[in-house]
Amino acid sequence: MLYRLARAGFFQLDAEKAHDLAIENFKRFTGTPLDLFYRQQLPNRPVECMGISFRNPVGLAAGLDKDGECIEAFDAMGFGFVEVGTVTPRPQSGNDKPRLFRLVEAEGIINRMGFNNQGVDNLVENVKKANFSCVLGINIGKNKDTPIEKGAEDYLLCMEKVYQYAGYIAVNISSPNTPELRSLQYGEALDDLLSELKLKQSQLAEKHHKYVPLALKIAPDLSDDEVTQICDSLIKNNIDGVIATNTTLDRSIVEGMKHASEVGGLSGRPVQLRSTEVVRLLHQKLKDQIPVIGVGGIDSYVAAKEKMMAGAQLVQVYSGFIYHGPSLVRDIVKNL
Ligand SMILES: Cc1cc2nc3c(=O)[nH]c(=O)nc-3n(C[C@H](O)[C@H](O)[C@H](O)COP(=O)(O)O)c2cc1C
Repeated sequence: MLYRLARAGFFQLDAEKAHDLAIENFKRFTGTPLDLFYRQQLPNRPVECMGISFRNPVGLAAGLDKDGECIEAFDAMGFGFVEVGTVTPRPQSGNDKPRLFRLVEAEGIINRMGFNNQGVDNLVENVKKANFSCVLGINIGKNKDTPIEKGAEDYLLCMEKVYQYAGYIAVNISSPNTPELRSLQYGEALDDLLSELKLKQSQLAEKHHKYVPLALKIAPDLSDDEVTQICDSLIKNNIDGVIATNTTLDRSIVEGMKHASEVGGLSGRPVQLRSTEVVRLLHQKLKDQIPVIGVGGIDSYVAAKEKMMAGAQLVQVYSGFIYHGPSLVRDIVKNL
């Protein structure tokens, strides 16, 4: 009820202004009695995944808290895990505004943010200051002006900086808003990247006496054959998890709607079905060797359960959270 009122106000604003205002408020309310607006006590639904214990399997997807500024607020909402980022080695401003659009009738969002973030060092400082009890995922990417052939260097640098502060590290090669990024999802480019990351992980594990799992985040716009090839590469390189999916370039479901022809990645309900199909395919190929984290259009307990029945051990929400607020997390966790 409270969220519905707040949403009515936020939805009067330009989408990115509303986002920035929400982040500002979360920062301001943290540690004060005003956090009662979103704090919720949820039942424990413990799960083990990638060798980590989660208090429940519902996480916040990457991109909402890119700089790790309000981990404590999301922790207070009861998320089992929060994935901050995508963060890049150097700060960058992202694409020109406007770059974020609501497709309200479809409960969808189109974004072409382009990894706007304040850089990995800033994120690490924010994480160090935060006091939270959920699992923290840190999602890493490459700077726009790093040539794609040198992309691996950006991932390795971020990995080195975030390693000791992360519960797991998500490797984002599936944003549609960084030119050529998605080319890292194929063939030799993927194999080379994963083997370099795996080597770095073993060096860092030894250095920090701590094993931090690596999860690869993939797009929904892959053919079934391409998903199968990714599975082979994940198994070959012993990757710890896979996150499916990022946003889609496909507009068939929203054709004709306001903002539908904006450039960028589409998320929310319109991507729900394809994300679930990718989760199912991954699970069929990977069996229980590598866990799948399901994300894309989860807007209810039923949608979360569908992802789990398709094989996801954990789920994440972004667009559903924008449309439904913290009660979405409560509804899913309570009914599990
Ligand atoms: C505005 C916006 C920004 C996003 N930024 C990122 C990002 O920086 N890194 C990333 O891995 N995914 C990013 N995503 C994708 C989400 O994490 C998620 O994979 C996708 O939106 C599908 O989930 P949903 O339908 O619940 O939104 C972003 C999504 C949105 C809507």
